Amino acid sequence: MSVIRPYRPSDRDDVYEICVRTGASGADATGLYSDDDLLPDIFTGPYVTYQPDLAFVVDSGDHAAGYVIGVSDSRAYADWYAREWLPAFAARYAVQDAPTEAERDMIRFGLDPSTSIVPEVADYPAHLHIDLLPELQGQGFGRALIRRMLEELRERGVPAVYLTMSPSNAAARAFYDRLGFHELPSSRPDGPALGISTSAVV
Ligand SMILES: CC(C)(COP(=O)(O)OP(=O)(O)OC[C@H]1O[C@@H](n2cnc3c(N)ncnc32)[C@H](O)[C@@H]1OP(=O)(O)O)[C@@H](O)C(=O)NCCC(=O)NCCS
Repeated sequence: MSVIRPYRPSDRDDVYEICVRTGASGADATGLYSDDDLLPDIFTGPYVTYQPDLAFVVDSGDHAAGYVIGVSDSRAYADWYAREWLPAFAARYAVQDAPTEAERDMIRFGLDPSTSIVPEVADYPAHLHIDLLPELQGQGFGRALIRRMLEELRERGVPAVYLTMSPSNAAARAFYDRLGFHELPSSRPDGPALGISTSAVV
């Protein structure tokens, strides 16, 4: 039986794999970039390093098969990222070595931590990422993980949370809409930004 539990350091390889296998707008991104660690080194690794107590996994018995991860203070996280995470990232990934424009764009994204900050951050201090392997999708775990994240943020006194996403991930957008996320003023068709109060009932 699958259960939701707090992240542990031993989940690190599993959460990296989940990120890759869902990283192409919800589909498998394995082999999409020269190095499969590129996506999780931006969207997973720094989060579970910076704030591991705000990460939760769906444990399928012998491995983690889904997660929600977040940071409660996105600006403080971006400062930390620039100081602590970026040097090693920049040493490992070079824009000029990337073979495709998509990979160059992704590396540029990882080189600029301010790209994860929305203009509404004062009112929506936290942000999150959620991914489930295909075998766990469509069974209510996404809703349960978001509920858990909202509870944890509320307990920390955080009023609201945002996320940014690929505009081509229509399934995820339907999920967020269903749960009651709304578009932020800065949201654009080519760069959706959604938010929700941590007191929302999802
Ligand atoms: C998007 C994702 C997190 C949703 O989690 P999930 O466990 O599959 O969704 P749930 O089963 O909890 O669904 C919750 C509600 O959203 C609805 N929903 C979920 N996916 C939907 C879809 N593709 N279309 C319409 N409604 C959808 C469900 O019907 C459900 O509504 P209900 O409870 O009223 O019936 C998950 O499918 C996933 O990880 N996908 C791949 C990675 C990804 O795209 N991550 C998001 C990146 S921004």
